[in-house]
Amino acid sequence: DAADAEKGTFPFYMLKEVSEQPAVMRRLISRYVDQAGAPQFDQAMLEALASADRLYIVAAGTSYHAGLVGQSLFEQLAKVPTEAYLASEFGYHQPLLSAKPMFIFLTQSGETADIRQVLVNVKQAGYPSLTLTNVITSTLAREADYAVELAAGPEIAVASTKAYTAQVAVEALLAKALGMVKQVPAAAAFDVAHQLSLAATGQQALIDQQEQLHLLATDMFGKTRNAFFIGRGTDYFVSLEAALKLKEISYVQAEGFAAGELKHGTIALIEQDTPVVAFITDPVTAARTRSNAEEVEARGAKVLRIASASLAEPGDQVIVDDLDPLLTPLLTIIPGQLLAYFTSLDRGYDVDRPRNLAKSVTVE
Ligand code: AGP
Repeated sequence: DAADAEKGTFPFYMLKEVSEQPAVMRRLISRYVDQAGAPQFDQAMLEALASADRLYIVAAGTSYHAGLVGQSLFEQLAKVPTEAYLASEFGYHQPLLSAKPMFIFLTQSGETADIRQVLVNVKQAGYPSLTLTNVITSTLAREADYAVELAAGPEIAVASTKAYTAQVAVEALLAKALGMVKQVPAAAAFDVAHQLSLAATGQQALIDQQEQLHLLATDMFGKTRNAFFIGRGTDYFVSLEAALKLKEISYVQAEGFAAGELKHGTIALIEQDTPVVAFITDPVTAARTRSNAEEVEARGAKVLRIASASLAEPGDQVIVDDLDPLLTPLLTIIPGQLLAYFTSLDRGYDVDRPRNLAKSVTVE
Protein backbone atom coordinates (compact mmCIF):
# COMPACT_ATOMS: atom_id res chain seq x y z
CA ASP A 1 0.00 0.00 0.00
CA ALA A 2 0.97 3.68 -0.17
CA ALA A 3 2.48 3.79 3.34
CA ASP A 4 4.73 0.90 2.35
CA ALA A 5 6.22 2.97 -0.42
CA GLU A 6 7.28 5.81 1.93
CA LYS A 7 10.88 6.06 3.09
CA GLY A 8 9.94 7.27 6.58
CA THR A 9 12.94 7.84 8.84
CA PHE A 10 15.29 5.73 6.73
CA PRO A 11 17.97 7.65 4.77
CA PHE A 12 17.52 5.34 1.79
CA TYR A 13 14.85 2.91 0.58
CA MET A 14 17.46 0.18 0.46
CA LEU A 15 18.00 0.27 4.23
CA LYS A 16 14.23 0.33 4.79
CA GLU A 17 13.76 -2.65 2.50
CA VAL A 18 16.61 -4.61 4.09
CA SER A 19 15.00 -3.94 7.49
CA GLU A 20 11.60 -5.20 6.32
CA GLN A 21 12.81 -8.72 5.56
CA PRO A 22 11.86 -10.32 8.90
CA ALA A 23 8.33 -8.93 8.49
CA VAL A 24 8.18 -10.29 4.93
CA MET A 25 9.13 -13.78 6.16
CA ARG A 26 6.32 -13.66 8.74
CA ARG A 27 3.86 -12.33 6.18
CA LEU A 28 4.67 -15.21 3.83
CA ILE A 29 4.05 -17.74 6.61
CA SER A 30 0.65 -16.25 7.40
CA ARG A 31 -0.21 -15.87 3.72
CA TYR A 32 0.74 -19.34 2.53
CA VAL A 33 0.84 -21.74 5.51
CA ASP A 34 -2.27 -23.17 7.19
CA GLN A 35 -2.84 -23.87 10.91
CA ALA A 36 -1.41 -27.38 10.54
CA GLY A 37 1.84 -26.01 9.07
CA ALA A 38 1.10 -27.09 5.48
CA PRO A 39 1.70 -24.64 2.62
CA GLN A 40 -1.47 -23.92 0.62
CA PHE A 41 -1.41 -23.11 -3.08
CA ASP A 42 -3.78 -23.34 -6.03
CA GLN A 43 -4.52 -27.04 -6.58
CA ALA A 44 -4.44 -26.89 -10.38
CA MET A 45 -1.04 -25.22 -10.24
CA LEU A 46 0.33 -27.91 -7.91
CA GLU A 47 -1.02 -30.61 -10.21
CA ALA A 48 0.67 -28.98 -13.19
CA LEU A 49 3.95 -28.84 -11.27
CA ALA A 50 3.55 -32.43 -10.11
CA SER A 51 3.04 -33.72 -13.64
CA ALA A 52 6.19 -32.00 -14.95
CA ASP A 53 9.29 -34.16 -15.31
CA ARG A 54 11.62 -31.15 -15.09
CA LEU A 55 11.35 -27.55 -13.88
CA TYR A 56 13.08 -24.70 -15.69
CA ILE A 57 13.52 -21.58 -13.57
CA VAL A 58 14.13 -18.59 -15.83
CA ALA A 59 15.25 -15.25 -14.39
CA ALA A 60 17.77 -12.40 -14.49
CA GLY A 61 20.18 -10.74 -12.05
CA THR A 62 19.28 -11.11 -8.40
CA SER A 63 16.20 -13.16 -9.27
CA TYR A 64 18.45 -15.63 -11.10
CA HIS A 65 20.53 -15.94 -7.93
CA ALA A 66 17.34 -16.75 -6.03
CA GLY A 67 16.56 -19.25 -8.79
CA LEU A 68 19.84 -21.08 -8.14
CA VAL A 69 18.77 -21.55 -4.52
CA GLY A 70 15.35 -22.68 -5.80
CA GLN A 71 17.01 -25.30 -7.98
CA SER A 72 18.35 -27.03 -4.84
CA LEU A 73 15.04 -26.60 -2.99
CA PHE A 74 12.96 -28.25 -5.74
CA GLU A 75 15.47 -31.03 -6.25
CA GLN A 76 15.89 -31.82 -2.55
CA LEU A 77 12.32 -31.37 -1.32
CA ALA A 78 10.27 -32.37 -4.37
CA LYS A 79 12.82 -34.66 -6.07
CA VAL A 80 12.15 -33.10 -9.44
CA PRO A 81 15.13 -32.26 -11.67
CA THR A 82 15.34 -28.45 -11.82
CA GLU A 83 17.57 -26.05 -13.68
CA ALA A 84 17.95 -22.31 -13.26
CA TYR A 85 18.63 -20.37 -16.46
CA LEU A 86 19.51 -16.81 -17.31
CA ALA A 87 16.59 -15.48 -19.34
CA SER A 88 18.91 -13.55 -21.65
CA GLU A 89 20.74 -16.77 -22.57
CA PHE A 90 17.82 -19.18 -22.76
CA GLY A 91 16.56 -18.05 -26.16
CA TYR A 92 19.94 -18.40 -27.86
CA HIS A 93 21.26 -21.39 -26.02
CA GLN A 94 18.13 -23.36 -25.39
CA PRO A 95 18.78 -26.61 -23.60
CA LEU A 96 17.30 -29.83 -24.91
CA LEU A 97 13.97 -29.81 -23.10
CA SER A 98 12.57 -32.80 -21.27
CA ALA A 99 9.33 -34.48 -22.39
CA LYS A 100 7.11 -32.64 -19.85
CA PRO A 101 8.80 -29.39 -18.82
CA MET A 102 7.23 -26.68 -16.70
CA PHE A 103 8.58 -23.14 -16.60
CA ILE A 104 8.90 -20.95 -13.52
CA PHE A 105 9.54 -17.28 -14.21
CA LEU A 106 11.08 -15.59 -11.21
CA THR A 107 10.84 -11.82 -11.33
CA GLN A 108 10.42 -9.00 -8.84
CA SER A 109 8.92 -6.56 -11.35
CA GLY A 110 7.17 -9.00 -13.67
CA GLU A 111 8.23 -6.76 -16.55
CA THR A 112 11.71 -7.98 -17.50
CA ALA A 113 11.91 -8.14 -21.31
CA ASP A 114 14.43 -10.99 -21.40
CA ILE A 115 11.94 -13.19 -19.52
CA ARG A 116 9.00 -12.07 -21.63
CA GLN A 117 10.80 -13.25 -24.74
CA VAL A 118 11.18 -16.73 -23.19
CA LEU A 119 7.57 -16.75 -22.03
CA VAL A 120 6.27 -16.01 -25.53
CA ASN A 121 8.17 -19.02 -26.91
CA VAL A 122 7.12 -21.26 -24.04
CA LYS A 123 3.46 -20.41 -24.60
CA GLN A 124 3.77 -20.97 -28.33
CA ALA A 125 5.19 -24.42 -27.65
CA GLY A 126 2.27 -25.12 -25.29
CA TYR A 127 4.30 -25.69 -22.12
CA PRO A 128 2.80 -24.77 -18.73
CA SER A 129 4.19 -21.75 -16.90
CA LEU A 130 4.15 -20.10 -13.50
CA THR A 131 5.33 -16.60 -12.61
CA LEU A 132 6.56 -15.83 -9.10
CA THR A 133 6.47 -12.07 -8.85
CA ASN A 134 6.19 -9.16 -6.49
CA VAL A 135 3.79 -7.38 -8.84
CA ILE A 136 0.75 -9.57 -9.36
CA THR A 137 -0.73 -7.14 -11.92
CA SER A 138 2.44 -7.28 -14.06
CA THR A 139 2.74 -8.50 -17.65
CA LEU A 140 4.50 -11.75 -16.73
CA ALA A 141 1.94 -12.53 -14.02
CA ARG A 142 -0.93 -12.00 -16.48
CA GLU A 143 0.60 -13.95 -19.33
CA ALA A 144 1.70 -17.09 -17.48
CA ASP A 145 -0.79 -19.88 -16.73
CA TYR A 146 -0.32 -19.40 -12.99
CA ALA A 147 1.03 -16.62 -10.77
CA VAL A 148 2.11 -16.52 -7.14
CA GLU A 149 2.72 -13.28 -5.29
CA LEU A 150 6.00 -12.69 -3.46
CA ALA A 151 4.20 -10.26 -1.13
CA ALA A 152 7.40 -8.40 -0.24
CA GLY A 153 5.65 -5.04 -0.60
CA PRO A 154 6.84 -2.35 -3.03
CA GLU A 155 10.59 -2.49 -3.66
CA ILE A 156 11.82 0.97 -4.67
CA ALA A 157 15.63 0.78 -4.39
CA VAL A 158 17.24 -0.42 -7.62
CA ALA A 159 19.27 -2.97 -5.67
CA SER A 160 16.90 -5.83 -4.92
CA THR A 161 16.92 -7.05 -1.32
CA LYS A 162 13.60 -8.11 0.19
CA ALA A 163 12.40 -9.49 -3.17
CA TYR A 164 15.39 -11.87 -3.16
CA THR A 165 14.64 -13.30 0.29
CA ALA A 166 10.91 -13.42 -0.54
CA GLN A 167 11.73 -15.40 -3.71
CA VAL A 168 13.82 -17.90 -1.77
CA ALA A 169 11.08 -18.24 0.86
CA VAL A 170 8.29 -18.71 -1.72
CA GLU A 171 10.39 -21.29 -3.56
CA ALA A 172 10.80 -23.16 -0.27
CA LEU A 173 7.04 -23.05 0.37
CA LEU A 174 6.30 -24.26 -3.16
CA ALA A 175 8.97 -26.98 -3.07
CA LYS A 176 7.55 -28.23 0.23
CA ALA A 177 3.98 -28.20 -1.15
CA LEU A 178 5.09 -30.04 -4.30
CA GLY A 179 7.11 -32.53 -2.26
CA MET A 180 4.02 -33.26 -0.15
CA VAL A 181 1.93 -33.90 -3.29
CA LYS A 182 4.66 -36.23 -4.52
CA GLN A 183 4.99 -37.85 -1.08
CA VAL A 184 8.70 -37.16 -0.78
CA PRO A 185 9.97 -38.02 2.73
CA ALA A 186 12.39 -35.06 2.72
CA ALA A 187 9.42 -32.70 2.24
CA ALA A 188 7.50 -34.24 5.13
CA ALA A 189 10.54 -33.75 7.38
CA PHE A 190 11.04 -30.11 6.31
CA ASP A 191 9.08 -27.78 8.60
CA VAL A 192 9.01 -24.81 6.27
CA ALA A 193 7.03 -22.48 8.55
CA HIS A 194 9.44 -23.14 11.42
CA GLN A 195 12.44 -22.55 9.16
CA LEU A 196 11.03 -19.26 7.87
CA SER A 197 10.22 -18.15 11.38
CA LEU A 198 13.79 -18.97 12.49
CA ALA A 199 14.98 -17.04 9.44
CA ALA A 200 12.96 -13.97 10.49
CA THR A 201 14.50 -14.03 13.98
CA GLY A 202 18.00 -14.57 12.61
CA GLN A 203 17.60 -11.76 10.06
CA GLN A 204 16.50 -9.37 12.80
CA ALA A 205 19.58 -10.25 14.88
CA LEU A 206 21.80 -9.37 11.89
CA ILE A 207 19.94 -6.14 11.13
CA ASP A 208 20.43 -5.20 14.80
CA GLN A 209 24.20 -5.57 14.27
CA GLN A 210 24.32 -2.98 11.51
CA GLU A 211 26.73 -0.65 13.31
CA GLN A 212 29.25 -3.47 13.54
CA LEU A 213 28.61 -4.35 9.88
CA HIS A 214 29.26 -0.71 8.97
CA LEU A 215 32.68 -0.92 10.68
CA LEU A 216 33.44 -4.16 8.83
CA ALA A 217 32.37 -2.60 5.52
CA THR A 218 34.67 0.38 6.04
CA ASP A 219 37.54 -1.88 7.02
CA MET A 220 37.05 -4.42 4.20
CA PHE A 221 35.91 -2.27 1.29
CA GLY A 222 36.76 1.31 2.28
CA LYS A 223 39.65 1.67 -0.13
CA THR A 224 39.47 -1.38 -2.35
CA ARG A 225 38.78 -1.54 -6.07
CA ASN A 226 38.00 -5.26 -6.09
CA ALA A 227 36.62 -7.97 -3.82
CA PHE A 228 35.82 -11.68 -3.84
CA PHE A 229 33.03 -13.69 -2.25
CA ILE A 230 33.42 -17.45 -1.91
CA GLY A 231 31.41 -20.46 -0.76
CA ARG A 232 30.16 -23.87 -1.81
CA GLY A 233 26.61 -24.95 -2.70
CA THR A 234 24.09 -22.43 -1.37
CA ASP A 235 27.04 -20.47 0.04
CA TYR A 236 28.29 -20.14 -3.54
CA PHE A 237 24.88 -18.93 -4.72
CA VAL A 238 24.81 -16.29 -1.99
CA SER A 239 28.37 -15.29 -2.95
CA LEU A 240 27.09 -14.40 -6.42
CA GLU A 241 24.32 -12.27 -4.96
CA ALA A 242 26.50 -10.52 -2.35
CA ALA A 243 29.01 -9.66 -5.10
CA LEU A 244 26.25 -8.26 -7.32
CA LYS A 245 25.01 -6.03 -4.49
CA LEU A 246 28.49 -4.59 -3.95
CA LYS A 247 29.01 -4.05 -7.70
CA GLU A 248 25.67 -2.37 -8.28
CA ILE A 249 25.75 0.27 -5.60
CA SER A 250 29.41 0.79 -4.66
CA TYR A 251 31.03 0.19 -8.09
CA VAL A 252 33.63 -2.12 -6.55
CA GLN A 253 34.63 -4.89 -8.97
CA ALA A 254 33.28 -7.86 -7.05
CA GLU A 255 33.05 -11.51 -8.04
CA GLY A 256 31.39 -14.50 -6.44
CA PHE A 257 33.25 -17.78 -6.82
CA ALA A 258 32.73 -21.40 -5.98
CA ALA A 259 35.39 -21.75 -3.28
CA GLY A 260 36.88 -24.86 -4.88
CA GLU A 261 37.38 -23.03 -8.19
CA LEU A 262 39.74 -20.41 -6.72
CA LYS A 263 42.75 -22.66 -7.21
CA HIS A 264 41.85 -23.09 -10.89
CA GLY A 265 42.71 -19.52 -11.73
CA THR A 266 41.19 -16.76 -9.65
CA ILE A 267 43.67 -17.16 -6.80
CA ALA A 268 46.22 -15.48 -9.11
CA LEU A 269 44.40 -12.21 -8.45
CA ILE A 270 44.91 -12.31 -4.68
CA GLU A 271 47.32 -9.64 -3.45
CA GLN A 272 48.14 -8.00 -0.15
CA ASP A 273 44.85 -6.82 1.43
CA THR A 274 42.52 -8.12 -1.33
CA PRO A 275 39.15 -8.46 0.45
CA VAL A 276 37.66 -11.97 0.43
CA VAL A 277 34.35 -12.79 2.12
CA ALA A 278 33.85 -16.50 2.89
CA PHE A 279 30.39 -17.95 3.58
CA ILE A 280 30.48 -21.05 5.80
CA THR A 281 27.04 -22.47 6.61
CA ASP A 282 27.06 -26.05 5.36
CA PRO A 283 28.51 -28.70 7.70
CA VAL A 284 29.41 -30.90 4.71
CA THR A 285 31.67 -28.31 3.09
CA ALA A 286 32.66 -26.01 5.99
CA ALA A 287 36.15 -27.47 6.51
CA ARG A 288 37.04 -27.23 2.83
CA THR A 289 35.86 -23.64 2.49
CA ARG A 290 37.77 -22.75 5.65
CA SER A 291 40.93 -24.15 4.13
CA ASN A 292 40.30 -22.14 0.92
CA ALA A 293 39.99 -19.03 3.10
CA GLU A 294 43.31 -19.88 4.76
CA GLU A 295 44.96 -20.34 1.36
CA VAL A 296 44.02 -16.81 0.28
CA GLU A 297 44.90 -15.42 3.71
CA ALA A 298 48.39 -16.93 3.38
CA ARG A 299 48.72 -14.92 0.15
CA GLY A 300 47.86 -11.66 1.87
CA ALA A 301 44.05 -11.52 1.48
CA LYS A 302 41.97 -9.81 4.12
CA VAL A 303 39.34 -12.44 4.94
CA LEU A 304 35.92 -11.90 6.50
CA ARG A 305 34.21 -15.11 7.58
CA ILE A 306 30.42 -15.31 7.81
CA ALA A 307 29.57 -18.60 9.53
CA SER A 308 26.60 -20.44 11.03
CA ALA A 309 26.60 -20.57 14.84
CA SER A 310 27.25 -24.30 15.15
CA LEU A 311 30.16 -24.09 12.69
CA ALA A 312 31.67 -20.88 14.04
CA GLU A 313 35.30 -20.68 15.10
CA PRO A 314 37.24 -18.00 16.97
CA GLY A 315 38.02 -15.12 14.62
CA ASP A 316 34.82 -15.44 12.55
CA GLN A 317 33.53 -11.87 12.28
CA VAL A 318 29.85 -12.50 11.52
CA ILE A 319 27.83 -15.34 13.04
CA VAL A 320 24.38 -16.21 11.69
CA ASP A 321 21.81 -18.42 13.41
CA ASP A 322 21.62 -22.07 12.46
CA LEU A 323 19.12 -22.86 9.72
CA ASP A 324 18.54 -25.73 7.28
CA PRO A 325 21.52 -25.48 4.87
CA LEU A 326 19.06 -25.12 1.95
CA LEU A 327 17.81 -21.84 3.40
CA THR A 328 20.90 -20.16 4.87
CA PRO A 329 20.93 -17.53 2.08
CA LEU A 330 17.94 -16.01 3.91
CA LEU A 331 20.42 -15.12 6.66
CA THR A 332 23.81 -14.78 5.00
CA ILE A 333 22.59 -12.32 2.39
CA ILE A 334 21.73 -9.81 5.14
CA PRO A 335 25.40 -9.02 5.90
CA GLY A 336 25.97 -9.16 2.13
CA GLN A 337 23.32 -6.49 1.60
CA LEU A 338 24.44 -4.34 4.53
CA LEU A 339 28.14 -4.47 3.64
CA ALA A 340 27.23 -3.21 0.15
CA TYR A 341 24.90 -0.57 1.57
CA PHE A 342 27.49 0.89 3.97
CA THR A 343 30.24 0.80 1.34
CA SER A 344 28.02 2.83 -0.99
CA LEU A 345 27.07 5.19 1.85
CA ASP A 346 30.74 5.70 2.89
CA ARG A 347 31.61 6.55 -0.69
CA GLY A 348 28.84 9.12 -0.87
CA TYR A 349 26.84 7.49 -3.67
CA ASP A 350 23.10 7.61 -4.23
CA VAL A 351 22.42 4.15 -2.79
CA ASP A 352 18.91 3.85 -4.22
CA ARG A 353 19.70 5.05 -7.73
CA PRO A 354 23.04 3.67 -8.89
CA ARG A 355 24.41 4.89 -12.20
CA ASN A 356 23.47 3.14 -15.46
CA LEU A 357 20.77 0.94 -13.87
CA ALA A 358 16.97 0.80 -14.10
CA LYS A 359 14.65 -0.86 -11.60
CA SER A 360 12.98 -2.96 -14.24
CA VAL A 361 14.80 -3.77 -17.42
CA THR A 362 12.27 -3.60 -20.24
CA VAL A 363 14.73 -3.88 -23.13
CA GLU A 364 16.41 -7.09 -24.31
C1 AGP B 1 19.01 -6.49 -8.57
O1 AGP B 1 19.66 -5.83 -7.56
C2 AGP B 1 19.15 -5.88 -9.91
N1 AGP B 1 18.79 -4.52 -9.94
C3 AGP B 1 18.74 -6.72 -11.11
O2 AGP B 1 19.73 -7.71 -11.23
C4 AGP B 1 17.36 -7.42 -11.11
O3 AGP B 1 17.33 -8.42 -10.15
C5 AGP B 1 17.08 -7.98 -12.51
O4 AGP B 1 17.05 -6.93 -13.44
C6 AGP B 1 15.82 -8.79 -12.57
O5 AGP B 1 14.68 -8.02 -12.32
P1 AGP B 1 13.28 -8.68 -12.02
O6 AGP B 1 13.42 -9.51 -10.80
O7 AGP B 1 12.34 -7.52 -11.84
O8 AGP B 1 12.93 -9.54 -13.21
